[in-house]
Amino acid sequence: MTTARPRTSPTRKRPPREQAALTVDQLSVAGRGMELVNEVSFALDPGQRVGLIGESGAGKSLTAGAIMGLLPDGMHARGAVRLGGVSHDLLGASERQMSAIRGRRLAMVFQEPMTALNPVMRVCDQVAEAMLVHRTQPGRRAARDRAVDLLARVRLPDPANTARAYPHQLSGGQRQRVVLAIALANDPAVLICDEPTTALDVTVQAHMLELILEAVTERGCALLFITHDLAVVATVCQRVLVMYGGRVVEAGPVRDVLTGPRHPYTRGLLDASDLEPSGERDRLYNIPGTVPAAGAFPAGCVFRTRCARADDRCATRPDWSGDEARGYACWYPLGDRDE
Ligand SMILES: Nc1ncnc2c1ncn2[C@@H]1O[C@H](COP(=O)(O)OP(=O)(O)O)[C@@H](O)[C@H]1O
Ligand SMILES: [Mg+2]
Repeated sequence: MTTARPRTSPTRKRPPREQAALTVDQLSVAGRGMELVNEVSFALDPGQRVGLIGESGAGKSLTAGAIMGLLPDGMHARGAVRLGGVSHDLLGASERQMSAIRGRRLAMVFQEPMTALNPVMRVCDQVAEAMLVHRTQPGRRAARDRAVDLLARVRLPDPANTARAYPHQLSGGQRQRVVLAIALANDPAVLICDEPTTALDVTVQAHMLELILEAVTERGCALLFITHDLAVVATVCQRVLVMYGGRVVEAGPVRDVLTGPRHPYTRGLLDASDLEPSGERDRLYNIPGTVPAAGAFPAGCVFRTRCARADDRCATRPDWSGDEARGYACWYPLGDRDE
């Protein structure tokens, strides 16, 4: 049974649910009297790489948390989250069901590797444990061997020895490689990376991105890549969802969105990024104003208090124009050509 959906967010028409690796349908997250994620819908095809971009506070991490079944206390999700090959909605899953899925079919790399690692366990044992809890290796010995192999694949230097180290003996970049090895240990169908390079030195960020790209490409694993950096999306992703104030305000193929943004917020992000040729950036464009506090976004279009194009009409929530493949939510979109 399909139900009529509001037209304020993209309706999911394709691919058919059975074929998608992950389908997020009208996902909202609320808590403490506030709605922080509002009707987010998208799908990942198997092996597809999709970026979720927006400034801090947009609701990106809560979206990931809802998908993973790891929301902070007091927050709850509505809508539906479906994973290929799993018949039930993940939002209705028991903790036991989620434990069987998390780290197995669906894995995540967080921004801060230290929070994901056990400080008192050797890194090879942590990678091995990821396989042992899901019984994807026949025994400790086999899991250990594969752990060292995985650590070599993510290019941990001198893996045979470094594998015996504790997290604090490694650099930030090395720790994030370990976290990636853990996430990949059971060949997940979907990997979510939430700002995986933000905490790392600039010099190791590019290596980490390459590794993630290589890892998902060779496994045919779908990727949801969360970042505030448009340049990173351009490097890693095929599609992008632009998020602001808990909503997806624009979606489409990366090239289309970056070369022909329709939503003024996307234009602002682009103008403020390194992707614009330096001549264009002379005016040091910034999106005026600041991101409102949680729960303090205006009614209607969430961006209207910072938007130069806004007028009274924007007090009404804009319809979603286009479809899931390419669309935006704005009454006064930019033209096909840059304005
Ligand atoms: N546990 C929480 N309690 C209250 N507010 C929260 C909590 N977690 C996140 N928020 C608020 O929800 C909004 C979205 O957060 P988040 O998803 O972390 O944003 P992003 O990852 O895009 O920076 C922010 O305004 C944040 O302050
Ligand atoms: Mg975040």
